Amino acid sequence: MIDVLSHTDPKLHALQLDLKEEILHLKKELNAVILAHYYQESEIQDLADFVGDSLDLSRRAASTNADVIVFAGVHFMAETAKILNPLKQVLLPDIEAGCSLADSCPAAQFKAFRQLHPDHISITYINCSAEVKALSDIICTSSNAEKIINQIPVERPILFSPDRNLGAYLQKKTNRDMLLWNGSCIVHETFSERKIIGLQIEHPEAKLIAHPECEEPILRRADFVGSTSALLKYTQSSPEKEFIVATEVGILHQMQKACPNKIFIPAPPDENCACNECPHMKRNTVEKLYSCMKNRQPEIILDALLMKRALTPIHRMLEMS
Ligand code: 13P
Ligand code: SF4
Repeated sequence: MIDVLSHTDPKLHALQLDLKEEILHLKKELNAVILAHYYQESEIQDLADFVGDSLDLSRRAASTNADVIVFAGVHFMAETAKILNPLKQVLLPDIEAGCSLADSCPAAQFKAFRQLHPDHISITYINCSAEVKALSDIICTSSNAEKIINQIPVERPILFSPDRNLGAYLQKKTNRDMLLWNGSCIVHETFSERKIIGLQIEHPEAKLIAHPECEEPILRRADFVGSTSALLKYTQSSPEKEFIVATEVGILHQMQKACPNKIFIPAPPDENCACNECPHMKRNTVEKLYSCMKNRQPEIILDALLMKRALTPIHRMLEMS
């Protein structure tokens, strides 16, 4: 009820328009670029200069000429942008926008894990802290992980951290000797196989598409598995008209925008909740985007030596993908 009212309230609408104007004005004033992940709320995606997956966003951050990077995403993404641009100011609308996967891998425990397996090469998913990146050999994202693993000599065992679902999926695809860190994403583990089967019965033509952070029973059922960008591209190039989407619901905005005549059904979570929304990503709002640009904070600040150490495995990733 409140939501419906707020959308139709002309005063609020005008205020939101002003805020958008102000953000665009500040962007010019600061010579800033706004980078946004697909899981951001649709208003933020529409204000961004670029919307993408973790790999595309890292590439954009690495190549930008802007003086200020405003990162509408979560902390590890903004940190990566800072590591790639130590001399630029990187702003994150809400400094508390974290990630359950990154939190599942504390640096001290990760260091001990590496020490226990000194013969293993460590390939670490970008969803981790700068400290964990600095302790890793190569960083990867869900877009390039398979390609990177296939470039590692076959006799070399691999430590894959922190996502156990993505790790198990890659292990199956590449048939490699891999030890997995036991982490997972709160959003991608919420999808209910039972409810998805129910949806497939109701929509027999629909293709099930899933992010590799989902659990194995969902991935096994999926017609297509890929990163957020890969899922979006699949829906655009596929002749099919209906899709059940097993990833964070924010991506539906770009899917629907690109293919207004296709039907996108969010995969349902187990409970009757909005658990297919990432609570960390959704901490960022248009208001916080405006205020971080206006006040030039919260800003990502990292130790210079830590950034130097974390840059090497990120560079390896960019070279290998
Ligand atoms: P992508 O790199 O596929 O966008 O995934 C990021 C992420 O956090 C998924 O939960
Ligand atoms: Fe992290 Fe999951 Fe949110 Fe992605 S969806 S940012 S992995 S908590």
